[in-house]
Amino acid sequence: MNANTKLAANAAVLEVKRVRHSYAGAPALNDVSFTVPAGGVAALLGPSGCGKSTMLRVIAGLIQPAHGSVWLGGKDLIAVPARERRIGMVFQSYALFPHMSVRENVAYGLSSLQLSRDERHARVTEMLGLVQMGHLADRMPRELSGGQQQRVAVARALAMRPTVILLDEPFAALDRALRADLQAEFVAMQRALGITAILVTHDQEEAQAVADTLIVMNRGSVEQIGTPAELYDRPATPFVSGFIGQSSTMTGTVISAEDDDYSVRLAVGAELSLPRPAAFRTGSEVLVSVRPEHVRVVGTPQAGSLPAQCLQSVVQGADVLHRLALADGTLLLARQPRGAAAPELPDSRVHAVIDTVACRVFPANAPAATA
Ligand SMILES: Nc1ncnc2c1ncn2[C@@H]1O[C@H](COP(=O)(O)OP(=O)(O)OP(=O)(O)O)[C@@H](O)[C@H]1O
Ligand SMILES: [Mg+2]
Repeated sequence: MNANTKLAANAAVLEVKRVRHSYAGAPALNDVSFTVPAGGVAALLGPSGCGKSTMLRVIAGLIQPAHGSVWLGGKDLIAVPARERRIGMVFQSYALFPHMSVRENVAYGLSSLQLSRDERHARVTEMLGLVQMGHLADRMPRELSGGQQQRVAVARALAMRPTVILLDEPFAALDRALRADLQAEFVAMQRALGITAILVTHDQEEAQAVADTLIVMNRGSVEQIGTPAELYDRPATPFVSGFIGQSSTMTGTVISAEDDDYSVRLAVGAELSLPRPAAFRTGSEVLVSVRPEHVRVVGTPQAGSLPAQCLQSVVQGADVLHRLALADGTLLLARQPRGAAAPELPDSRVHAVIDTVACRVFPANAPAATA
């Protein structure tokens, strides 16, 4: 059995059950529960301060939560000390030991395992190969780029043969291209090792690129858990809608709620007829959220179009993103292919056509994303 199959056989389901934690009375985690399947990758994402790092520290055993439990492979970890949990952690600021070479950094934890010198050496070489750092094994951390230091930190965590690896914003400090490379390498490595992983990020593109499950947190609570496509297509809250991809939110009131059709009068005055099962009664105050790709900008009024002022048009590769202001000042984003004939002059008067089938309706008191 080679090293890789040994690790794959180790893969275990990780369960977080109703975890609560406060720092000096200030709640940081508020009844958080989720499951990461054996060998799966989950991304924990949410705005700064929402509790992501705290959650990882609880899983790693660095924080003992006030309530709740963490289970690995069906075993309650609460009484297991951090060093015995077989959980590797790559911290938010990758702290390599500055006075140790790359090789020594990766070998650091291995002295606590019962390995011969040759086995230790072989494992360090294997891990450095895995993160493509073998040729720089004798460098000191200060002689490495940020991305190289990050790879060493990942190798150091993997060298301990963890069952789970926790990575706290491992790629945040890197430029876009390098980040994409490392994300792809990480996914390949994680699959090869069959290890269960949780990656913290506040970059939703990174989460979508790396993870099969997204866990969106806000103010210490889980807002929604699902695949990237589920969260994008069926966000449960305006917060998720604005955090996973972009969306614009308009306030309105339900004015008719028939079996399979309801109409909302927007605060701006226009009526939208939304062909969906009615989830709200007539008179309900609602938020209507729509993604930029479901709004079209036209030069002349059409049935159901909303008059708007084009504040700004930004080229985004093959598309152009228009920032529109509706008559009451509500911001509406519209994205369309650059080829489409669209007025792009700042301050021009335009008309927005909303694809009502793609709108999502939420209760008016649901908090929206501020990110
Ligand atoms: N050691 C600590 N003592 C007191 N409060 C803390 C401590 N660590 C974190 N907090 C607070 O707990 C909350 C959650 O912090 P946490 O570090 O988990 O957030 P995060 O989601 O990782 O944010 P970021 O994206 O900025 O890293 C924040 O309000 C933070 O100020
Ligand atoms: Mg953090």
